[in-house]
Amino acid sequence: MNSTQGYIQVFLSQPNWNVLTWGVAFLAVVVSTFLKFPLSGTKKTIIPAKSKLYGQPVQSIKPTAVDPSFQWNKDPPLKSYPFKDAVYKLTMGIKTLEVQDWLLIEPTYLNRIENKSKIVHNCHEDYPKDKDTRSSSLFVTDEAIPAIREFYDIVMQYMCDKYPMYFKKVGNQYHNGITDKCYPVDNSTVEAITLEEYLVENIEEDFIILLKDPTREHEIDGTEYFFKGGVFAFAAGFDPKDRFNKPLSFVHHPIPGYPEKLKMSMNRFFNRLQPGQFVTRSNFSMQTHPKFYVDDANKGHNLPEGYVQEPLRIEELDFEKQVHYRSERQCLTKLPKSGAMVFTIRTYLLPLAEVKREGREVCDRLIGAIRGLPEDISQYKRADEWGPAVIEYLSVP
Ligand code: HEM
Repeated sequence: MNSTQGYIQVFLSQPNWNVLTWGVAFLAVVVSTFLKFPLSGTKKTIIPAKSKLYGQPVQSIKPTAVDPSFQWNKDPPLKSYPFKDAVYKLTMGIKTLEVQDWLLIEPTYLNRIENKSKIVHNCHEDYPKDKDTRSSSLFVTDEAIPAIREFYDIVMQYMCDKYPMYFKKVGNQYHNGITDKCYPVDNSTVEAITLEEYLVENIEEDFIILLKDPTREHEIDGTEYFFKGGVFAFAAGFDPKDRFNKPLSFVHHPIPGYPEKLKMSMNRFFNRLQPGQFVTRSNFSMQTHPKFYVDDANKGHNLPEGYVQEPLRIEELDFEKQVHYRSERQCLTKLPKSGAMVFTIRTYLLPLAEVKREGREVCDRLIGAIRGLPEDISQYKRADEWGPAVIEYLSVP
């Protein structure tokens, strides 16, 4: 039954109404038609309140194919410049995201996959041979295994749907045409950690699986979502191992102001997000080296107690090779079967000189954002060290 039939049925079933009642009913119909809320019948235009968050209806995790002329190494990557010429505010800063824009292939594809593979296999040249980066980047718990399997299926199908020129299902295998490697379609007999390694070889994004843990509800923040699995290869200033199997508030522990300003809204948000809904947020920071995985620098909380952050001198810094702008494009969704939350992190890392070449508008906005950092966040980001030199560098035309 459509909406008009619905209204007619309501009218015909009320024989004893007087003129006034009919008038009110007529007005109600007109108004409800305008507002697209039918009185009965079709649900086409009604989105149940609980499936609607931030204005986005539930959708499947299925993108449409990109333009067939797309070439992965030709189109320029996203410009991830999420800073404002304004005072920094610690907020969730999330926006809705179309499923189409979730996972991306950009010209950095092979480079990022190669870096990530070396980190998870303990053979990245940036780190000492005896440093175990694998145990700090690949994570599995028993309870996360169904979600890892589900995520693998979703991702491989997503890549086939969105990039059919590069990803194909051939018999019982997925074929990645960029790396010319194959991966199983049926993952039921493959170990979860191997599936994570496969994902490292296919997507640039890191991903974190979060689940509730009913066995730990009695612990501090034990009713929150816990970091239960995933690939965290491009950590920016902390060792992911220290955050593994911990609730969201613990994961965010050193961030000044988190407990007062973010904790409640984050937990509420995580509890409300529905499968098929996607949100995104981006951050930015600066580092004085080109490394992707950083567990002991970048952030102020790694420094010894009493350490005073001294401003670096501009003459000491190389803005083409050493000082890098770093931005993470983070996306969050909920998996339909396991109910796990998945947080994907795409890392943009480029020499600051490249950002400067974007021109005056971007430079001025970035200068304003650095000046707008409150003291505690500035210390946390180590901006007391790099800030003055970076501002000076960006100010010179
Ligand atoms: C909608 C979800 C989330 C929001 C709104 C959020 C918000 C934030 C904010 C505001 C910060 C401070 C620095 C920045 O602006 O990035 C931060 C840092 C951090 N977040 Fe989240 N977060 C979310 C999800 C997660 C998840 C799922 C994890 C996973 C384990 C995570 C791990 C971290 C870590 C380790 C840091 C500290 C590192 C850094 O400052 O770069 N976050 N987050």
